[in-house]
Amino acid sequence: MLNQLQRDILRLKKEKNAIILAHNYQSREIQEIADFKGDSLELCIEASRIEGKDIVVFCGVDFMAETAYILNPDKKILIPDRGAECPMAHMLSAEDVKMARKRYPDAAVVLYVNTLAEAKAEADILCTSSNAVRVVESLDEDLILFGPDRNLAWYVQQHTDKTIIPIPEEGHCYVHKMFTAGDVMAAKEKYPEAELLIHPECDPEVQELADHILSTGGMLRRVLESDAKSFIIGTEVDMTTRISLESDKKTIPLLEEAICENMKLHTLEKVKNSLIKEEFVVTVPDEIARRARRAVERMIEVST
Ligand code: 13P
Ligand code: SF4
Repeated sequence: MLNQLQRDILRLKKEKNAIILAHNYQSREIQEIADFKGDSLELCIEASRIEGKDIVVFCGVDFMAETAYILNPDKKILIPDRGAECPMAHMLSAEDVKMARKRYPDAAVVLYVNTLAEAKAEADILCTSSNAVRVVESLDEDLILFGPDRNLAWYVQQHTDKTIIPIPEEGHCYVHKMFTAGDVMAAKEKYPEAELLIHPECDPEVQELADHILSTGGMLRRVLESDAKSFIIGTEVDMTTRISLESDKKTIPLLEEAICENMKLHTLEKVKNSLIKEEFVVTVPDEIARRARRAVERMIEVST
């Protein structure tokens, strides 16, 4: 049953003609009131399809809300806590991308959606963890500048004959960096029957032990379609919450401490406040939004 705050939010949502999008890492109470939950690609696609709503409340991190704005410049995009930034997205600036292009003029630039709008505007195409290989393979160029996640770059390199050059050299997600091969071995010993699902933002030695390497949306689909009864989930801890809303199968977080503090800045109180005060508004300068939109739309074309 929904609590009072959740009911208030649903009422306000109706009054304001708003929609709530939430990334799979949000807390249970936020997931319960979201109109749509998903991984980065699913949220981009959903944002591109929004019709008949005036306000989008984005319970995710900065680059996700910016992407929603880039695809919906006529709508009010709100983020409940302005401090919800993805540290990885801040590891690659537009200037870094321009410098890499100068150094490798024949290369295509593929950027992970976990980048800020200014960097996106410098990309040929974007990708997410669920379509990165497909995006790279869709390009004519054999040399690919890929950033900012070095581990996702490594994953793509395992699945393509093209040459992948990570930019910057050490871009990473602090949450997925927490997992070690030792954690995986201990979990496998404790739950020998469980399938091991690992996110491609994890280090290569952790990915090498996985049964499946998947985006968060891919993990949910795998749990629903697999014959296995239990799963070790190698990503942010609330992915197990997301799966529990769709399935009774047993999910075990690889590490209880794997919490994205940035995603968790959003709370029900802040979502309610965001709807009442219509804050905090996310925008992107027109020219940057126009150039970034091309790269986002090109990715969506390749992925749908
Ligand atoms: P996906 O949900 O696209 O797998 O990405 C995980 C992530 O870390 C988003 O910031
Ligand atoms: Fe960024 Fe990692 Fe948090 Fe995702 S989990 S938002 S990549 S810090």
